Amino acid sequence: MEDKVIIFDTTLRDGEQSPGASMTKDEKVRIARQLERLKVDVIEAGFAASSDGDFDAIAAVAATVKDSIVCSLARANDKDISRASDALKQAKSKRIHIFLATSPLHMELKLRMSPEQVLEQAKRSIRFARNLCDDVEFSAEDGYRSEMDFLCRVFEAAINEGATTINVPDTVGYAIPELYGEFIKTVRTRVPNSDKAVWSVHCHNDLGMAVANSLAGVKIGGARQIECTINGLGERAGNTALEEVVMSLRTRKDYFNLVSGIDASQIVPASKLVSQITGFVVQPNKAVVGANAFAHASGIHQDGILKARETYEIMRAEDVGWSANKIVLGKLSGRNAFKQRLQELGIAIEAEGDLNDAFSRFKTLADQKSEIFDEDIISIMAGSTVEEGEFYRFISLKQHSQTGERPISQVTLQMGDKEVSAEAEGNGPVDASLNAIESIAKSGAEQLLYSVNAITSGTQSQGEVTVRLSKGGRIVNGVGTDPDIIAASAKAYLSALNKLHDPRREKLNAQMAP
Ligand code: KIV
Ligand code: ZN
Repeated sequence: MEDKVIIFDTTLRDGEQSPGASMTKDEKVRIARQLERLKVDVIEAGFAASSDGDFDAIAAVAATVKDSIVCSLARANDKDISRASDALKQAKSKRIHIFLATSPLHMELKLRMSPEQVLEQAKRSIRFARNLCDDVEFSAEDGYRSEMDFLCRVFEAAINEGATTINVPDTVGYAIPELYGEFIKTVRTRVPNSDKAVWSVHCHNDLGMAVANSLAGVKIGGARQIECTINGLGERAGNTALEEVVMSLRTRKDYFNLVSGIDASQIVPASKLVSQITGFVVQPNKAVVGANAFAHASGIHQDGILKARETYEIMRAEDVGWSANKIVLGKLSGRNAFKQRLQELGIAIEAEGDLNDAFSRFKTLADQKSEIFDEDIISIMAGSTVEEGEFYRFISLKQHSQTGERPISQVTLQMGDKEVSAEAEGNGPVDASLNAIESIAKSGAEQLLYSVNAITSGTQSQGEVTVRLSKGGRIVNGVGTDPDIIAASAKAYLSALNKLHDPRREKLNAQMAP
């Protein structure tokens, strides 16, 4: 029997805590489906008590996913735990994940509780959760900066109360690989009932060592669960990147002698989907999923690769799901070819009406752009559904720009049940278009980021625009795609406004929660 590491994906919870990365219910379901194809063992779908919107999203993921365990985070109190349990009602396999801080700093300054109170609350909450769910994980928040004797007492009690997984987070990304590995080993050695639970690592990337720390936790410490996110998405410098730990275990099996159940060929599609939905662009030199990860630009490297690819490649691009940008469909492709390509890409369409809508969007794009790539199809589908409660919708745009004159743009959009148009000038055509929208919406939001990315190569490509807005302490990202980057910009701005407009997205952040 091979020794297996459980892959616990928290893109939809810890990843989503990254400012601007908040996702809608439909977006979470789309990502959860891809995580299931990737064969992650556990999907942490959200933090049910953080908002009504997140509760609904977890419930929708729980109703959709069949093969992975679906998990909700909860603070160590009855109300949060009941909320998590209710959201997970329809899950085929479920887990409640309770967290409570154990470091002196967090107990004193954040929780204002004594260590004995923390110990009692941890015990009580696990007991309560075990009455609702057989699979209960307990996380000692800021565990790595906790006092060893106390941490061991808490973990021993947690296991006695029925916690099945014990997680030791490096919440602030302070650890060093060797020290973190030894820390996990010491805890496991000193907790007398440690063999009754699975030990888990959860590392943040503030010093750029989240992946290395997680791997040390497994190799030196003996942990058998890694908590991670696609593209390393997460607050501040992010979390452990799933693609990096999984490919490290696989590529260096000679060293780790461990396996994960991940289907690596789904890694790149997962990375692209998360990036497209959140608007967090993957840096080109990012390991495994960056656009340059398998590009061999220098002459010497190219020569070596042509003679024998192992000279410079330790992994094969196709093994992690990179496919050459191939033209898959065009203007003359029919409905069946489109449907088949969706199936090959693992994109599920349940209702016939949805297929008709998707096909008509495909035809519109094929009229604008003769060659349709897989990436285009993914983007058509990513922006496919009209979200519940979407207040603004793009209809059309007309703009005029000429050298030496200020550009003018006229935008027509759906606002609630009214169709409205406005005209505005700007420094450039994008600025004029967003000014026109703002003159209708009057959001007063501050623009934190505007970025354009080409979905495939060449000027024929669709532009993918991300707009990040901030208002009243909330930060949201909007993403829009279109072969016309001005239209893509308008769509991205409207998508961000929709997120600001929806009060159900107001959310309590787990790491900030008292
Ligand atoms: O980083 C952390 O401590 C967490 C816990 C809630 C598990 O995300
Ligand atoms: Zn975390």
